[in-house]
Amino acid sequence: MSDRLKDRVALVTGAASGIGNACALRFAQEGARIAGVDVAEPSGDAWAAVEKAAPATSFATADVRDEAAIEAVVRAAHERFGRLDVLVNAAGVSGIGAAADLDVAEWDRVVDINLKGTFLVSKHAVRIMRTQGSGSIINLASVEGLEGADASAAYNVSKGGVVQLTRSMAVDYGRAGVRVNCLCPGLIETPMTAMLNTPELKPIRDRFEAMHLLGRGGQPEEVAHAALFLASDESSFVHGHALAVDGGFTAGRSLTQGA
Ligand SMILES: NC(=O)c1ccc[n+]([C@@H]2O[C@H](COP(=O)([O-])OP(=O)(O)OC[C@H]3O[C@@H](n4cnc5c(N)ncnc54)[C@H](O)[C@@H]3O)[C@@H](O)[C@H]2O)c1
Repeated sequence: MSDRLKDRVALVTGAASGIGNACALRFAQEGARIAGVDVAEPSGDAWAAVEKAAPATSFATADVRDEAAIEAVVRAAHERFGRLDVLVNAAGVSGIGAAADLDVAEWDRVVDINLKGTFLVSKHAVRIMRTQGSGSIINLASVEGLEGADASAAYNVSKGGVVQLTRSMAVDYGRAGVRVNCLCPGLIETPMTAMLNTPELKPIRDRFEAMHLLGRGGQPEEVAHAALFLASDESSFVHGHALAVDGGFTAGRSLTQGA
């Protein structure tokens, strides 16, 4: 479409699906070379579109919880493309459970993937970016990192942690030229939220959707547009910010419209 990321290299986790895949595609359309990472293989169509749009791509399977694997993936992307300008931490999982009912194993799964995984990929990427003297890290937090939600103890904590990791790294690396921000999406139509379309969960999903002041959920491409802003030089003075991409969900509640 244009060249807002021409000659840039972007590493995107969770690139096989949903928001990560949409970011990889949008960045590719703006001229970025894309290194995708995911624990799952992408579906042919999703990654083929990125390959078609980007000047160059690589894709690696790795678990963001595995530090040795992630260090190797980050190093390989840097060696292959010669630089690292953008990191999108989109790998993540949902998790349901109030504190009284939550198994430790489920707590660990959700917090380890969403929070420790974001920390590990950022740790190895920022080492390259600070040496380079530039970079933009974009974390996928959530409206659930800003507010509480029913039966979401581990997910709320993991995403609140991502917001604080964003701020902490912004303090540490701003003077090295590395900007760190996060996106806080509301309900976005992806495979993650498709699981809410069962007969038991659909009423909850519909209520959640109705709480967005625009009266609808969002599309992954709408999150990717916000990520593109944070990745590009247009956001050169935006640092340490948690940007809600939520159709007004966190702005307030209507007492007369919607749910
Ligand atoms: N969809 C929403 O409504 C929504 C709202 C707010 C925040 N988010 C966040 O956005 C991010 C992307 O979510 P999505 O909706 O695109 O979900 P998705 O399920 O479509 O994509 C997530 C991707 O992460 C990958 N992944 C999961 N565990 C991994 C691991 N251990 N290592 C590497 N990759 C792993 C999955 O294989 C998948 O491809 C997540 O962090 C999610 O919490 C989503």
